Amino acid sequence: MSSSMAQELLGTSFQNPVLLAAGTCGFGEEIAEVVELDRLGGLVTKSVTLEPRLGNPAPRVAEFRAGMVNSVGLANPGAHEVRKRKLPWLRERMVRARVLVSVAGHTPDEFVRVVEILDDADGFQAYEINLSCPNDTRRGGLAFALDPDAAARVLEGVRRRTERPLVAKLAPNTPDFGPVIRALEGAGVDGFTLVNTLPGLVLDPETGEPALGAGAGGMSGPAIRAVGVHAVWSAAAHTRLPLLGVGGIAEGQDAVQYLMAGASLVQMGSASFWDPRSSGRVVNWLDAAVRRRGLDHVRALVGSARLERKKPQEPGPE
Ligand code: FUM
Repeated sequence: MSSSMAQELLGTSFQNPVLLAAGTCGFGEEIAEVVELDRLGGLVTKSVTLEPRLGNPAPRVAEFRAGMVNSVGLANPGAHEVRKRKLPWLRERMVRARVLVSVAGHTPDEFVRVVEILDDADGFQAYEINLSCPNDTRRGGLAFALDPDAAARVLEGVRRRTERPLVAKLAPNTPDFGPVIRALEGAGVDGFTLVNTLPGLVLDPETGEPALGAGAGGMSGPAIRAVGVHAVWSAAAHTRLPLLGVGGIAEGQDAVQYLMAGASLVQMGSASFWDPRSSGRVVNWLDAAVRRRGLDHVRALVGSARLERKKPQEPGPE
Protein backbone atom coordinates (compact mmCIF):
# COMPACT_ATOMS: atom_id res chain seq x y z
CA MET A 1 0.00 0.00 0.00
CA SER A 2 1.37 3.42 -0.88
CA SER A 3 2.27 6.02 1.75
CA SER A 4 -0.13 8.39 -0.02
CA MET A 5 -2.93 6.64 1.88
CA ALA A 6 -1.69 7.39 5.41
CA GLN A 7 -3.64 9.85 7.54
CA GLU A 8 -2.14 11.59 10.58
CA LEU A 9 -4.68 12.50 13.22
CA LEU A 10 -5.64 11.87 16.85
CA GLY A 11 -1.95 11.79 17.75
CA THR A 12 -1.22 8.75 15.58
CA SER A 13 -0.79 7.59 12.00
CA PHE A 14 -3.48 5.51 10.26
CA GLN A 15 -1.93 3.54 7.36
CA ASN A 16 -5.10 4.17 5.34
CA PRO A 17 -8.42 5.87 6.06
CA VAL A 18 -10.62 2.74 6.28
CA LEU A 19 -11.69 1.44 9.69
CA LEU A 20 -14.33 -1.02 10.86
CA ALA A 21 -17.15 0.58 12.83
CA ALA A 22 -18.10 -0.12 16.44
CA GLY A 23 -20.46 -3.03 16.90
CA THR A 24 -19.61 -4.67 13.59
CA CYS A 25 -16.29 -6.37 14.38
CA GLY A 26 -16.52 -7.27 18.08
CA PHE A 27 -13.03 -6.85 19.52
CA GLY A 28 -11.28 -7.97 16.33
CA GLU A 29 -10.68 -11.55 17.42
CA GLU A 30 -14.20 -12.58 16.38
CA ILE A 31 -13.57 -11.74 12.71
CA ALA A 32 -9.80 -12.23 12.40
CA GLU A 33 -10.24 -15.41 10.34
CA VAL A 34 -12.16 -13.63 7.58
CA VAL A 35 -10.79 -10.06 7.56
CA GLU A 36 -7.14 -9.06 7.18
CA LEU A 37 -7.43 -6.62 10.05
CA ASP A 38 -3.83 -5.41 10.04
CA ARG A 39 -4.19 -4.15 6.43
CA LEU A 40 -6.93 -1.72 7.48
CA GLY A 41 -6.60 1.75 8.96
CA GLY A 42 -8.01 0.23 12.13
CA LEU A 43 -11.12 -0.78 14.00
CA VAL A 44 -13.45 0.54 16.65
CA THR A 45 -14.38 -2.06 19.28
CA LYS A 46 -17.87 -2.95 20.40
CA SER A 47 -18.93 -0.39 23.01
CA VAL A 48 -17.59 -1.25 26.44
CA THR A 49 -19.76 -0.65 29.49
CA LEU A 50 -18.88 -0.78 33.18
CA GLU A 51 -20.73 -4.06 33.85
CA PRO A 52 -21.03 -6.99 31.43
CA ARG A 53 -24.26 -6.78 29.41
CA LEU A 54 -26.11 -9.72 27.90
CA GLY A 55 -27.97 -7.44 25.51
CA ASN A 56 -31.51 -7.32 24.17
CA PRO A 57 -33.83 -10.23 23.33
CA ALA A 58 -33.43 -11.96 19.93
CA PRO A 59 -33.77 -11.31 17.10
CA ARG A 60 -31.25 -8.50 17.44
CA VAL A 61 -30.74 -7.87 13.74
CA ALA A 62 -33.20 -7.82 10.83
CA GLU A 63 -32.60 -7.02 7.18
CA PHE A 64 -34.91 -5.08 4.89
CA ARG A 65 -34.49 -4.02 1.28
CA ALA A 66 -32.42 -0.89 1.85
CA GLY A 67 -30.43 -1.96 4.89
CA MET A 68 -30.85 -3.45 8.32
CA VAL A 69 -32.05 -2.61 11.80
CA ASN A 70 -30.37 -3.77 14.99
CA SER A 71 -31.03 -3.64 18.68
CA VAL A 72 -28.17 -5.50 20.26
CA GLY A 73 -28.45 -3.65 23.56
CA LEU A 74 -24.72 -3.00 23.92
CA ALA A 75 -23.93 -6.65 24.67
CA ASN A 76 -20.29 -6.80 25.81
CA PRO A 77 -18.21 -8.51 28.50
CA GLY A 78 -17.71 -5.36 30.61
CA ALA A 79 -14.66 -3.17 31.18
CA HIS A 80 -12.67 -5.51 33.47
CA GLU A 81 -12.96 -8.47 31.08
CA VAL A 82 -12.11 -6.27 28.07
CA ARG A 83 -8.97 -5.12 29.83
CA LYS A 84 -7.99 -8.66 30.84
CA ARG A 85 -8.82 -10.63 27.67
CA LYS A 86 -9.58 -8.36 24.70
CA LEU A 87 -6.93 -5.64 24.85
CA PRO A 88 -3.99 -8.09 25.07
CA TRP A 89 -5.17 -9.76 21.83
CA LEU A 90 -5.48 -6.38 20.12
CA ARG A 91 -2.03 -5.31 21.35
CA GLU A 92 -0.47 -8.41 19.85
CA ARG A 93 -2.36 -8.59 16.56
CA MET A 94 -2.98 -4.97 15.54
CA VAL A 95 0.59 -4.06 14.69
CA ARG A 96 -0.01 -1.54 11.89
CA ALA A 97 -3.76 -0.97 12.27
CA ARG A 98 -5.02 1.38 14.98
CA VAL A 99 -7.65 0.64 17.64
CA LEU A 100 -10.27 2.95 19.10
CA VAL A 101 -12.14 1.60 22.13
CA SER A 102 -15.81 2.56 22.09
CA VAL A 103 -17.19 3.47 25.52
CA ALA A 104 -20.86 3.60 26.55
CA GLY A 105 -22.82 4.12 29.75
CA HIS A 106 -26.13 5.13 31.22
CA THR A 107 -24.67 8.01 33.25
CA PRO A 108 -21.64 10.27 32.85
CA ASP A 109 -20.06 8.47 35.80
CA GLU A 110 -20.31 5.08 34.08
CA PHE A 111 -18.32 6.40 31.09
CA VAL A 112 -15.69 7.77 33.47
CA ARG A 113 -15.37 4.48 35.33
CA VAL A 114 -14.88 2.51 32.11
CA VAL A 115 -12.06 4.85 31.13
CA GLU A 116 -10.49 4.56 34.59
CA ILE A 117 -10.42 0.76 34.24
CA LEU A 118 -8.95 0.73 30.72
CA ASP A 119 -6.73 3.75 30.53
CA ASP A 120 -3.33 2.43 31.59
CA ALA A 121 -3.66 -0.75 29.51
CA ASP A 122 -2.01 -1.18 26.09
CA GLY A 123 -3.66 -2.24 22.84
CA PHE A 124 -5.48 0.91 21.77
CA GLN A 125 -4.75 4.50 20.78
CA ALA A 126 -7.95 6.46 21.45
CA TYR A 127 -11.52 6.30 22.71
CA GLU A 128 -14.71 6.70 20.72
CA ILE A 129 -17.29 7.97 23.20
CA ASN A 130 -20.65 6.52 22.16
CA LEU A 131 -23.10 9.32 22.92
CA SER A 132 -25.68 8.18 20.39
CA CYS A 133 -26.80 4.56 20.85
CA PRO A 134 -30.50 4.57 19.87
CA ASN A 135 -31.13 1.28 21.70
CA ASP A 136 -30.23 2.33 25.19
CA THR A 137 -33.49 3.70 26.53
CA ARG A 138 -32.63 3.96 30.22
CA ARG A 139 -32.30 7.73 29.79
CA GLY A 140 -35.89 7.95 28.54
CA GLY A 141 -34.90 7.32 24.94
CA LEU A 142 -32.91 10.54 24.47
CA ALA A 143 -29.32 9.83 23.49
CA PHE A 144 -26.67 12.03 25.16
CA ALA A 145 -25.74 13.38 21.72
CA LEU A 146 -29.21 14.93 21.38
CA ASP A 147 -28.72 16.96 24.56
CA PRO A 148 -25.59 19.14 24.27
CA ASP A 149 -25.34 19.78 28.05
CA ALA A 150 -25.60 16.08 28.89
CA ALA A 151 -23.08 15.21 26.17
CA ALA A 152 -20.65 17.81 27.55
CA ARG A 153 -21.01 16.39 31.08
CA VAL A 154 -19.91 12.97 29.79
CA LEU A 155 -16.95 14.45 27.91
CA GLU A 156 -15.82 16.66 30.79
CA GLY A 157 -15.77 13.69 33.16
CA VAL A 158 -13.84 11.49 30.76
CA ARG A 159 -11.44 14.29 29.78
CA ARG A 160 -10.35 14.66 33.40
CA ARG A 161 -9.35 10.95 33.52
CA THR A 162 -7.39 10.45 30.31
CA GLU A 163 -4.89 12.08 28.00
CA ARG A 164 -5.79 9.76 25.15
CA PRO A 165 -7.66 11.31 22.21
CA LEU A 166 -11.45 11.37 22.58
CA VAL A 167 -13.74 11.09 19.57
CA ALA A 168 -17.45 11.70 20.19
CA LYS A 169 -19.93 9.64 18.17
CA LEU A 170 -22.93 11.74 17.21
CA ALA A 171 -26.50 10.93 16.19
CA PRO A 172 -27.91 11.22 12.66
CA ASN A 173 -31.19 12.72 13.88
CA THR A 174 -29.48 15.87 15.19
CA PRO A 175 -31.38 18.89 13.87
CA ASP A 176 -28.33 21.22 14.05
CA PHE A 177 -24.79 19.97 14.78
CA GLY A 178 -23.61 23.42 15.92
CA PRO A 179 -24.74 23.28 19.59
CA VAL A 180 -23.48 19.76 20.36
CA ILE A 181 -20.18 20.35 18.56
CA ARG A 182 -19.60 23.61 20.49
CA ALA A 183 -20.52 21.95 23.81
CA LEU A 184 -18.15 19.03 23.18
CA GLU A 185 -15.31 21.23 21.97
CA GLY A 186 -15.69 23.21 25.21
CA ALA A 187 -15.37 19.92 27.10
CA GLY A 188 -12.12 18.94 25.37
CA VAL A 189 -13.14 16.54 22.57
CA ASP A 190 -10.56 15.75 19.83
CA GLY A 191 -12.79 14.67 16.94
CA PHE A 192 -16.23 13.48 15.91
CA THR A 193 -17.67 10.31 14.38
CA LEU A 194 -20.77 10.88 12.25
CA VAL A 195 -23.11 9.02 12.38
CA ASN A 196 -24.56 6.29 14.55
CA THR A 197 -27.62 4.37 13.33
CA LEU A 198 -30.91 6.16 12.72
CA PRO A 199 -33.89 5.09 14.87
CA GLY A 200 -36.05 2.74 12.80
CA LEU A 201 -38.86 0.23 13.05
CA VAL A 202 -39.55 -2.77 10.82
CA LEU A 203 -42.93 -4.49 11.24
CA ASP A 204 -44.27 -7.77 9.91
CA PRO A 205 -47.00 -6.53 7.56
CA GLU A 206 -49.19 -9.58 8.33
CA THR A 207 -49.00 -9.70 12.10
CA GLY A 208 -47.86 -6.20 13.09
CA GLU A 209 -45.07 -7.75 15.18
CA PRO A 210 -41.72 -5.94 15.18
CA ALA A 211 -38.89 -7.71 13.38
CA LEU A 212 -36.60 -7.13 16.38
CA GLY A 213 -37.05 -8.66 19.82
CA ALA A 214 -36.65 -5.24 21.40
CA GLY A 215 -39.16 -3.54 19.07
CA ALA A 216 -37.54 -0.54 17.41
CA GLY A 217 -33.81 -0.36 16.66
CA GLY A 218 -31.10 1.51 14.79
CA MET A 219 -31.09 1.51 11.01
CA SER A 220 -27.89 1.16 9.00
CA GLY A 221 -26.76 0.24 5.50
CA PRO A 222 -27.25 1.95 2.14
CA ALA A 223 -30.43 3.68 3.35
CA ILE A 224 -28.47 6.00 5.64
CA ARG A 225 -25.47 6.77 3.42
CA ALA A 226 -26.81 10.10 2.16
CA VAL A 227 -27.79 11.03 5.74
CA GLY A 228 -24.24 10.30 6.93
CA VAL A 229 -22.54 12.17 4.11
CA HIS A 230 -24.81 15.17 4.75
CA ALA A 231 -24.08 15.00 8.50
CA VAL A 232 -20.30 15.09 7.88
CA TRP A 233 -20.69 17.99 5.48
CA SER A 234 -22.92 19.87 7.96
CA ALA A 235 -20.59 19.20 10.91
CA ALA A 236 -17.57 20.41 8.91
CA ALA A 237 -19.11 23.89 8.90
CA HIS A 238 -18.87 23.99 12.71
CA THR A 239 -15.45 22.53 13.54
CA ARG A 240 -11.85 22.18 12.44
CA LEU A 241 -11.40 18.96 14.43
CA PRO A 242 -11.09 15.70 12.47
CA LEU A 243 -14.28 13.94 11.35
CA LEU A 244 -14.79 10.19 10.94
CA GLY A 245 -17.61 9.32 8.53
CA VAL A 246 -19.77 6.20 8.86
CA GLY A 247 -23.07 4.97 7.45
CA GLY A 248 -23.82 2.79 4.43
CA ILE A 249 -20.29 2.48 3.00
CA ALA A 250 -20.04 -0.67 0.89
CA GLU A 251 -17.84 0.44 -2.04
CA GLY A 252 -14.95 2.81 -2.69
CA GLN A 253 -17.36 5.23 -4.35
CA ASP A 254 -19.28 5.48 -1.07
CA ALA A 255 -16.15 6.10 1.00
CA VAL A 256 -14.95 8.82 -1.34
CA GLN A 257 -18.19 10.76 -0.84
CA TYR A 258 -17.54 10.87 2.92
CA LEU A 259 -13.97 12.08 2.32
CA MET A 260 -15.21 14.77 -0.06
CA ALA A 261 -17.79 15.88 2.53
CA GLY A 262 -14.94 16.45 5.01
CA ALA A 263 -14.15 13.13 6.73
CA SER A 264 -10.48 12.27 7.32
CA LEU A 265 -11.29 8.63 8.06
CA VAL A 266 -14.25 6.41 7.22
CA GLN A 267 -15.72 3.44 9.07
CA MET A 268 -17.52 0.49 7.52
CA GLY A 269 -20.27 -1.39 9.32
CA SER A 270 -23.20 -3.31 7.84
CA ALA A 271 -21.36 -4.03 4.58
CA SER A 272 -18.87 -6.22 6.46
CA PHE A 273 -21.76 -8.44 7.59
CA TRP A 274 -22.81 -9.01 3.99
CA ASP A 275 -19.26 -9.32 2.66
CA PRO A 276 -16.40 -9.49 5.19
CA ARG A 277 -13.89 -8.63 2.44
CA SER A 278 -15.56 -5.34 1.49
CA SER A 279 -13.28 -3.22 3.72
CA GLY A 280 -10.14 -4.56 2.01
CA ARG A 281 -11.70 -3.82 -1.35
CA VAL A 282 -12.45 -0.24 -0.34
CA VAL A 283 -8.81 0.25 0.72
CA ASN A 284 -7.62 -1.01 -2.69
CA TRP A 285 -10.18 1.10 -4.56
CA LEU A 286 -9.15 4.30 -2.74
CA ASP A 287 -5.46 3.61 -3.31
CA ALA A 288 -6.09 3.15 -7.04
CA ALA A 289 -8.42 6.19 -7.20
CA VAL A 290 -5.77 8.49 -5.70
CA ARG A 291 -3.30 7.42 -8.42
CA ARG A 292 -5.88 7.44 -11.22
CA ARG A 293 -6.88 11.01 -10.32
CA GLY A 294 -3.24 12.12 -10.26
CA LEU A 295 -3.39 13.15 -6.59
CA ASP A 296 -0.34 13.20 -4.30
CA HIS A 297 -2.25 11.98 -1.32
CA VAL A 298 -5.67 10.76 -0.21
CA ARG A 299 -5.99 13.89 1.92
CA ALA A 300 -6.48 15.88 -1.29
CA LEU A 301 -9.94 14.34 -1.41
CA VAL A 302 -10.89 15.48 2.09
CA GLY A 303 -13.33 18.38 1.94
CA SER A 304 -13.19 18.53 -1.86
CA ALA A 305 -17.00 18.49 -2.37
CA ARG A 306 -18.00 21.13 -4.88
CA LEU A 307 -20.93 22.44 -2.97
CA GLU A 308 -21.52 25.96 -1.75
CA ARG A 309 -22.54 26.55 1.81
CA LYS A 310 -25.61 28.75 1.74
CA LYS A 311 -25.91 31.34 4.49
CA PRO A 312 -29.19 31.10 6.46
CA GLN A 313 -31.82 33.45 4.89
CA GLU A 314 -32.55 36.65 6.84
CA PRO A 315 -36.26 36.75 7.66
CA GLY A 316 -37.94 39.13 5.19
CA PRO A 317 -40.51 41.82 6.06
CA GLU A 318 -43.92 40.39 7.06
O1 FUM B 1 -27.74 -1.99 20.41
C1 FUM B 1 -26.55 -1.70 20.28
O2 FUM B 1 -25.66 -2.32 20.87
C2 FUM B 1 -26.20 -0.55 19.41
C3 FUM B 1 -25.30 0.34 19.76
C4 FUM B 1 -25.09 1.57 18.99
O3 FUM B 1 -25.66 1.73 17.91
O4 FUM B 1 -24.37 2.44 19.44
